[in-house]
Amino acid sequence: MKILVTGSNGQLGNEMRRVATKACSVHEFIFTDVAELDITNAAAVLEAAKGVGAIVNCAAYTNVDAAEDNEETAHLINATAAANLAAAAKAEGALLIHVSTDYVFGGDGNTPRTEDMPTSPLGAYGRTKLAGELAITASGCRNIIIRTAWLYSIHGKNFVKTMLSLMSSRPALNVVFDQVGTPTYAGDLADAIGTILSTPDPAESVYHYSNEGVCSWYDFAVAIGQLAGSPCVVNPCHSNEFPSKVERPAFSVLDKTKIRTTFNLTIPHWYTSLKHCIAMLQNS
Ligand SMILES: NC(=O)c1ccc[n+]([C@@H]2O[C@H](COP(=O)([O-])OP(=O)(O)OC[C@H]3O[C@@H](n4cnc5c(N)ncnc54)[C@H](OP(=O)(O)O)[C@@H]3O)[C@@H](O)[C@H]2O)c1
Repeated sequence: MKILVTGSNGQLGNEMRRVATKACSVHEFIFTDVAELDITNAAAVLEAAKGVGAIVNCAAYTNVDAAEDNEETAHLINATAAANLAAAAKAEGALLIHVSTDYVFGGDGNTPRTEDMPTSPLGAYGRTKLAGELAITASGCRNIIIRTAWLYSIHGKNFVKTMLSLMSSRPALNVVFDQVGTPTYAGDLADAIGTILSTPDPAESVYHYSNEGVCSWYDFAVAIGQLAGSPCVVNPCHSNEFPSKVERPAFSVLDKTKIRTTFNLTIPHWYTSLKHCIAMLQNS
């Protein structure tokens, strides 16, 4: 099967490149980023999708803070372009695997979010990602939507790399302990997408995927420092010590039961995957 991957210079896109090189991959992958295929260009998307059996959309407007001032641009990439991909998938009878976010939910409650829970985004990024989900489901194309959270990898910008950089130059850091969720190593998510692509007639639905376990950003930062052998002291602090235009969910743990059981996945605990990522960063 021919598989079109969009946004492939990003964190997840880069990990999809690794998945594609696995010896067991029987698919032909076409990797594109905005220079080769701007997904906001509907005609270009239709053309690029000709003959493909699946599209994996790793492209997005992911700057949560900047989205508050640039919601129109974020909507164009996260919603209008998602609709373009859905139209192209429909025209080809292809499966669209689209990646969304925990930010479609508000931050209330303290039970892991299942796929059927009501959405209520707190900010522009979440609104535009939810609009993308709705456009895809309304299109009638074959689709799988995977909501993920706290994505990090050896590629691009992310919390792990930011912490490592700050820890190398500061004796101490304050990190919020009143926002709880689960990190996701992009390599694990890409492997899960690889499994879905190898599944005959995969069940079309919305799924949640992150690593297993629960932590606050503070716990995550402490683990990053310990695994990297950093002497930097990490102190817990409240979110209101970092004033931001964006209200972030206080509780954002995704329930992975559905994707785990549907695709028989073994999902690593966040600490195990963090250890792996830090070792990769230290050896690179
Ligand atoms: N990062 C997170 O913490 C997080 C959390 C939850 C969900 N997600 C979701 O997970 C998915 C993957 O995220 P990620 O962190 O891998 O994203 P990323 O690293 O920001 O990569 C996104 C890629 O899409 C490209 N892109 C932007 N506009 C495009 C366009 N019009 N046409 C084609 N490509 C375009 C970007 O290029 P430029 O860099 O040049 O703009 C970038 O290479 C996204 O759907 C995101 O919403 C991410």
